[in-house]
Amino acid sequence: MSHSPHTKSAQPQSFTLQPPEWVRQRQLIAWVERIAALTQPDQVVWCDGSQEEYDRLCAQMVAAGTLQKLNPAKRPNSYLAWSDPSDVARVEDRTFICSPRREDAGPTNHWVDPAEMRGTLNGLFEGAMRGRTMYVVPFSMGPLGSPIAHIGVELSDSPYVVTNMRIMTRMGRAVYDVLGTDGAFVPCVHSVGAPLAAGARDVPWPCNDTKYIVHFPQTREIWSYGSGYGGNALLGKKCFALRIASTMGRDEGWLAEHMLILGVTSPQGRKHYVAAAFPSACGKTNFAMLIPPQTLEGWSISTIGDDIAWIKPGKDGRLYAINPEAGYFGVAPGTSEKTNFNAMATLKENVIFTNVALTDDGDVWWEGMTDTPPAHLIDWQRQEWTPAIARETGRKAAHPNARFTAPAQQCPSIDADWENPAGVPIDAFIFGGRRSSTVPLVTEARNWAEGVYMAATMGSETTAAAAGQQGVVRRDPFAMLPFCGYNMSDYFSHWLKTGERLTQMHATLPKIFCVNWFRKNAEGKFVWPGFGENMRVLAWMVGRIEGKAEGAEHAFGLSPRYDDLDWRGLDFNREQFAEVISSNTDAWRTELNLHTELFEKLQQGLPAALTQTKSAFEERLAT
Ligand code: GTP
Ligand code: SPV
Ligand code: MN
Repeated sequence: MSHSPHTKSAQPQSFTLQPPEWVRQRQLIAWVERIAALTQPDQVVWCDGSQEEYDRLCAQMVAAGTLQKLNPAKRPNSYLAWSDPSDVARVEDRTFICSPRREDAGPTNHWVDPAEMRGTLNGLFEGAMRGRTMYVVPFSMGPLGSPIAHIGVELSDSPYVVTNMRIMTRMGRAVYDVLGTDGAFVPCVHSVGAPLAAGARDVPWPCNDTKYIVHFPQTREIWSYGSGYGGNALLGKKCFALRIASTMGRDEGWLAEHMLILGVTSPQGRKHYVAAAFPSACGKTNFAMLIPPQTLEGWSISTIGDDIAWIKPGKDGRLYAINPEAGYFGVAPGTSEKTNFNAMATLKENVIFTNVALTDDGDVWWEGMTDTPPAHLIDWQRQEWTPAIARETGRKAAHPNARFTAPAQQCPSIDADWENPAGVPIDAFIFGGRRSSTVPLVTEARNWAEGVYMAATMGSETTAAAAGQQGVVRRDPFAMLPFCGYNMSDYFSHWLKTGERLTQMHATLPKIFCVNWFRKNAEGKFVWPGFGENMRVLAWMVGRIEGKAEGAEHAFGLSPRYDDLDWRGLDFNREQFAEVISSNTDAWRTELNLHTELFEKLQQGLPAALTQTKSAFEERLAT
């Protein structure tokens, strides 16, 4: 559904606002007035983040048809939203990094001159909120007042965004106390781009076919137009916590990463924290909430975060990580009590589901939730759905990028330190893509530079998390391809420099591992059982961190042999293991050629350490 361009009034009305007395940041008030004058909403609401406000907005959205209240006996205080079928995922080709110079955005980002983009945005946003309410949404990424946290304020004409932001961030009045009269914040402007003429009826999911997700790294501003979905619209997440924060990290000496953070405790009671970067819909939420197989007695996992990590070097030379988010915006399809018990437990109440199917008893269902689908559903496109219809038409009950928004503290495996403002010390980084061939189950890098190389050249098959073609292998350095707010080569340098800095502090650098849960056999089936069984690989990594586990060296690093892993309770033989751990020389020659292509694209500013590492790998492969 799209909206025809609205007629613009000749005289933009000016806005003088009466903010509540708890808003004292003058620049903020002036900015809200400016944006209101530009976008012309019917009213401005200053959100306080209270439960009453949340409930009121939900009730309002139920009345408007945006949300359906789920059966309170099945799913207390939970709602279901069905988006417009044209607005179901991040739009990478409509995402822009408007740094002063094209080179600052680099060849992997869409760049537009900032002045030109400001002109475009002014045109788009003029009158864009007419007939709607503009909500002022103050939020903190990271625990309120933490030295690692940063504040943003999102102005949005979508009540769906407000309620999701309340779950995903620390949102509300307390943020203004931190801001005081002159505290810094990242201004985020969001409109669904669907002004309502006087008396016109709204649609359940307003949006616009024209979409712009725009970042100005120099002035640390975000503007988003035309979409109400996920990372396009919840601007604290990808736009702020990754694209803008990555540039802040480059300037200030820290890292903003597309990583889960988990704690792993060994049977001996020793605890380590690891951070892992997998591309979108490649298993971060699953890994972050992993439940070890019962036969691996004594191991346990706790969850700090499932999507984003902010990581800062401490005075002791270790890297400390926080989860800047307060909730999970997780992929629903494939989530079940078998694949992710903790996620299912997190979803018991207080959840907003988007684009999953509705059951006859007012609950939700998605592909993979149960082995046997319900006999009848209303699918995410508001149509009748039965298993027979699905067989005939191939129609899915839930959209493949259907998501849940759930409070982090509801997760049974949440780590006691998840809100520790100082963060948790990281002992290892894990990088992993979705690769049906070539890349082994697990490889340990011999040193920091080789680890950075492996992360930089990572490939992955694309998923439904982004609009566009799915299942094609593309290079996705550090799982940050769609999220790095500056030149990717400079980002590699920043990682290398971080390693050098820690080395100068005589610190033990975190180990770097590369994993692939997704190798397939000739029949196209996953060979590795994955999910909870990934604990076996993680246990080996912990053994390596503690200097206890062994492996065999090969061209690209070190991998476990069959007998180096703990197989208790799993029927997985040597042949199967060979299928997931092997490196085929021909496949790797082809792979290295793809690295060459990537490096050619990223030539400008590419650190010499990476091309040197590549030559060394090529030599090792040749012998
Ligand atoms: P974003 O929220 O998009 O950043 O992604 P995420 O990395 O958190 O994705 P998530 O954990 O929700 O990944 C979901 C997809 O990964 C589903 O299709 C799962 O079935 C699949 N998946 C997760 N872990 C494994 C695994 O160990 N093996 C296999 N084969 N699939 C897995
Ligand atoms: C991703 O695509 O990596 C996500 C979901 O985590 S979204 O917030 O929509 O970007
Ligand atoms: Mn993500």
